Amino acid sequence: MRDFRIAPSLLSADFACLGQEVRDVIAAGADIIHFDVMDNHYVPNLTVGPLVCEAIRPHTTAPIDVHLMVKPVDSLVPMFAKAGADIITFHPEASEHIDRTLGLIKESGCKAGLVFNPGTSLSYLDHVMDKIDMVLIMSVNPGFGGQSFIPHALEKVAAARQRIDEYTAKHGGEIWLEVDGGVKVDNIAAVAAAGADTFVAGSAIYGQADYQAVIAAMRAELAKVA
Ligand code: DX5
Ligand code: ZN
Repeated sequence: MRDFRIAPSLLSADFACLGQEVRDVIAAGADIIHFDVMDNHYVPNLTVGPLVCEAIRPHTTAPIDVHLMVKPVDSLVPMFAKAGADIITFHPEASEHIDRTLGLIKESGCKAGLVFNPGTSLSYLDHVMDKIDMVLIMSVNPGFGGQSFIPHALEKVAAARQRIDEYTAKHGGEIWLEVDGGVKVDNIAAVAAAGADTFVAGSAIYGQADYQAVIAAMRAELAKVA
């Protein structure tokens, strides 16, 4: 069985007490903190930057997974690395030089990943698999929490799974396959069955009072997946 990781998105947390929200969700059984950065340019919404990443960093030893929905990308990479990011992902169409941006992320000591919108082709992976630690498939169009899962994303997850398995069988290494958008207790098993190993969930977790109950229910669903 694959290792499954649950990554609550802080986008749906209470921003007036983010440190507590980080601690609570990790204590409730989450593995990773997903940190959504929006710039009101690449996506029509504005969230948080490196200062907030730095502020939450002391609240957990869990990896912080910074999802950059920004354009341009490069200048923010060293800033987030310095602010304590462990993983930095970006949208390939938001970077003029994908290979260079991936290199920047690796040089800054972080794991690197590409993010694919529902309408973005996986062919961006063709020549950069050697620089990638994570592939993130969006199952909503980026910009907002609380949207509905786009079912077609399951086929894309399966296609990404195949690419990753073919690459790692030949070259070794580990590449995580994350899915982001509309993931809930009632669809997480289908997302895992399609091939994902890392699950972002914002509103599904932070929208409930009992984080532990939601995460336990998600793990129970994941346990059903062979
Ligand atoms: C969307 C963000 C997601 C979002 C997930 O642009 O990248 O991380 O917060 O939220 P839910 O789980 O509510 O769809
Ligand atoms: Zn995200």
